[in-house]
Amino acid sequence: MRLQLGSAFAAWLALGGEVVASKEEAKSNGVRNIAIIGAGAAGSSAAYHLRQYADEADVKVNITIFEKTGRIGGRTLTVSAFDDPLQPIELGASIFVAVNYIMYNGTKNFNLSIGANYRTASSQDDITAIWDGDSFVYETTDGTSWWWDAGKLWWRYGMSPYRAVNLVKEVVGKFLKLYEPPYFPFRSLTARAYELDLVKITAVTGEQFLAQHKIDESFSRHIIQAATRVNYASNLAYLHGLEAMVSFATDGAMSVNGGNWRIFDQMVKTSGAAIYHDTAVSSIGFAKAKTSASAPRYEISTRSAEADPEVVGTIFDDVIIASPWQFSNIEAGEGVIKHHIEEIPYTKLHVTLFASPFKLHPDFFKLPPGSKAPSNVYTTLAEGEEPKEGAEGVGKTGFYSVSTLRTAVNPKTNKTEFVYKIFSPKPVTPQFLSDLLGVQVPETFTAPTDEDRGGDNQNSGVDPISWYYPHWFYSYPIELPRVTFQDPILGSGLYYTSGIESFISTMETSALMGMNVARLIVDDAAGISRAAVPGSVSEEDLGMHEVKVDLVVEEPGEL
Ligand SMILES: Cc1cc2nc3c(=O)[nH]c(=O)nc-3n(C[C@H](O)[C@H](O)[C@H](O)COP(=O)(O)OP(=O)(O)OC[C@H]3O[C@@H](n4cnc5c(N)ncnc54)[C@H](O)[C@@H]3O)c2cc1C
Ligand SMILES: *[C@@H]1O[C@H](CO)[C@@H](O)[C@H](O)[C@H]1NC(C)=O
Ligand SMILES: *[C@@H]1O[C@H](CO)[C@@H](O)[C@H](O)[C@H]1NC(C)=O
Ligand SMILES: *[C@@H]1O[C@H](CO)[C@@H](O)[C@H](O)[C@H]1NC(C)=O
Ligand SMILES: *[C@@H]1O[C@H](CO)[C@@H](O)[C@H](O)[C@H]1NC(C)=O
Repeated sequence: MRLQLGSAFAAWLALGGEVVASKEEAKSNGVRNIAIIGAGAAGSSAAYHLRQYADEADVKVNITIFEKTGRIGGRTLTVSAFDDPLQPIELGASIFVAVNYIMYNGTKNFNLSIGANYRTASSQDDITAIWDGDSFVYETTDGTSWWWDAGKLWWRYGMSPYRAVNLVKEVVGKFLKLYEPPYFPFRSLTARAYELDLVKITAVTGEQFLAQHKIDESFSRHIIQAATRVNYASNLAYLHGLEAMVSFATDGAMSVNGGNWRIFDQMVKTSGAAIYHDTAVSSIGFAKAKTSASAPRYEISTRSAEADPEVVGTIFDDVIIASPWQFSNIEAGEGVIKHHIEEIPYTKLHVTLFASPFKLHPDFFKLPPGSKAPSNVYTTLAEGEEPKEGAEGVGKTGFYSVSTLRTAVNPKTNKTEFVYKIFSPKPVTPQFLSDLLGVQVPETFTAPTDEDRGGDNQNSGVDPISWYYPHWFYSYPIELPRVTFQDPILGSGLYYTSGIESFISTMETSALMGMNVARLIVDDAAGISRAAVPGSVSEEDLGMHEVKVDLVVEEPGEL
């Protein structure tokens, strides 16, 4: 004891002010400072798994999350019907399935209750139907979590529904290998896509892929395309086969009561990370290296609401960019991003939530007067209607889906109303809503409040729309066929999660990339090396950059 005190004293005498610096060094000695930019699915999962892996490997990590907004979840968020927090509704990502292990385990580990409240209300007499602009091509009264059944469809589409179900199972089986060694973790998503033979599926359109596997054109158009449109705002001709399969793999879909974002919120809490809310990272640069030999470390600047950019005091060993780069507004210093981040076109999707005492009107769907309109309508193209790309691709229906989400109590009237969600490529108009509900919707969507109208108007009738919440997103990439994917490593200690979105864009896949990046960081810090995938190929072997999409199209056969 006395000896230690003595030597510290001696050191202080010898080095003067320097001791302060070396004490700082000693304090951070062995602690890796890790910055995560963005607290969506990817960033939250990265933080959670970093903590878990680091603790297991006895690596000390100090995690700091920077989040531009005041909340956690990114594109996974709820809003409150009638501004009542007790009536939350998913505005963004709404469903996941049991093989989404990170999400599903999250609900168990964090004791979150799940509901099967898919996009549909689940009352027994609800009808779910697929509309092509002229007529309904499919209708069901099934109160189950999914709205079609291969057994019931064989008479109409023959073996196609079974083939499609088996195809989905095979593809999901291959994808799930990404969670296990030797495929997990991965430094290159492109290499894994080849190794798992998934690139054959991403290289072709959903339309080509289904045709290769002898799935009937009308089944694909009626049923599978309705799914790709509601999930990815795209026709089968403009999204790759893998995303078509993912759209169709929603059997047993579920969501977290109170909001899916709660999984990510718990992940952040459990990780013990420091989180800076309302703080956008504005630049990433190299920190001045102490010695030329050491690995680069990073300096970050942030911008809060109105303030000027500020340099963060901490120097980071690793930085994880967990948001699509092109929307992040981050400036990277010279040479920081070694692997150029390709700009990916994203879909602009309008999500319109509203409450109304009225049901969808049969006239809108050209049904006989007095008949009952479906409560959930997915759409597809009519026979012979040309599938177009992007917003034009919506075709004559003009929307991708209209769903009755739930009932909710209007606090002004204490009456139960219906809460709807519409997905469309363009903003919804009062005329469209008037036609849909069969009642005149004011140009302002919601009627003036009672106070605005004056007291004498209070009983002037029922408001067709009592609560209205329009929003638009850059929701996901336009999932065109491709054979390369942005890899998760941008430079030494610099990671990127959003490249996985043009492979598959879901909460789960973003969370998987967060988990993957966490594993890579801890592996490197702990000196853990892993066996290569047997028979794996390097990027040079693949001649990656010369691969042309149309060369990969293959005869039907095994996947
Ligand atoms: C309408 C809609 C419906 C969807 N439906 C489903 C569905 O049913 N099921 C499903 O699985 N997926 C669905 N998705 C897709 C899913 O939401 C996304 O794939 C997933 O949430 C992406 O997560 P992420 O963490 O990669 O990115 P994001 O959720 O975009 O998170 C990025 C975070 O980074 C923050 N950020 C950005 N820039 C900065 C900066 N400079 N500094 C600090 N922070 C920054 C953002 O504020 C955000 O919080 C849907 C998406 C939309 C929009
Ligand atoms: C951990 O990170 C925070 C910033 O979030 C910083 O203030 C703190 O000094 C860091 N701790 C260590 C031991 O580096
Ligand atoms: C999910 O939980 C199961 C059962 O505990 C476990 O075997 C599996 O590894 C977990 N997977 C992930 C991705 O967390
Ligand atoms: C889990 O949640 C349920 C209900 O939400 C509650 O009754 C139970 O006590 C919780 N269990 C734990 C371990 O927190
Ligand atoms: C609605 O019900 C609540 C509780 O029952 C009551 O306090 C409130 O006055 C009612 N409001 C209207 C407009 O009837």
